[in-house]
Amino acid sequence: MAFTYFFRDMQTLEMIRDHVVPTLRTRRFAHIWDAGCAMGPEPYTLAIVLRENMGPMIFRNVSMHATDIDESNLFEDIIKEGLYPWEQVERIPKDIFTRYFAPADKPDHFRIAEEIRKCVSYQKHNLLNLEPVRKDFILIVCKNVLLHFNESERIKVIEMFHDALVEGGFFATEQTQKMPKELESIFEPVVPNAQLFRKVG
Ligand SMILES: C[S@@+](CC[C@H](N)C(=O)[O-])C[C@H]1O[C@@H](n2cnc3c(N)ncnc32)[C@H](O)[C@@H]1O
Repeated sequence: MAFTYFFRDMQTLEMIRDHVVPTLRTRRFAHIWDAGCAMGPEPYTLAIVLRENMGPMIFRNVSMHATDIDESNLFEDIIKEGLYPWEQVERIPKDIFTRYFAPADKPDHFRIAEEIRKCVSYQKHNLLNLEPVRKDFILIVCKNVLLHFNESERIKVIEMFHDALVEGGFFATEQTQKMPKELESIFEPVVPNAQLFRKVG
């Protein structure tokens, strides 16, 4: 199973809240791509953070497209169900947990609220095919995935993200990942020394 957990990397979540949410609020529809989403904690966390910072009406216009190569063929069912065992949800901040999770029929399992589940859709997708799942994203999040690729693959995948973003769209990756020099002219950092970028050019 891919390593992931709910509310991983608060720094990026806070940057998205502060720098991306104001743009999302101005848009009629907001498509977001979580590329390499594993079994769902990352796209669901992102959806919860957006819901927490948007009214219910505006949040209804957000679509989270979660994709993964998923060699186990398990992620689709897990994400669709939105059902997670206690050990995977116990570290979620208590107030958030109370608002968005409810005990399920299965012992020691909790289901994410329907409002959040409805926001997230999943499809199996290999980033190295270099075919974006659509081309009107306002935000693409790809974390702890690019490190599995070689430098040339990383450049091609980030170029594909650039092509898949709308004008002024955002790209977020993990803090230890650097933007390749070849791409510095097409993405500008939103915050110094952090891995949130905005499409230019
Ligand atoms: C360490 S997990 C990261 C999960 C999540 N993004 C996070 O940061 O918590 C890496 C994920 O990348 C996916 N992955 C690896 N190669 C991929 C590819 N070529 N296309 C799409 N996903 C890929 C793996 O299946 C795995 O789920």
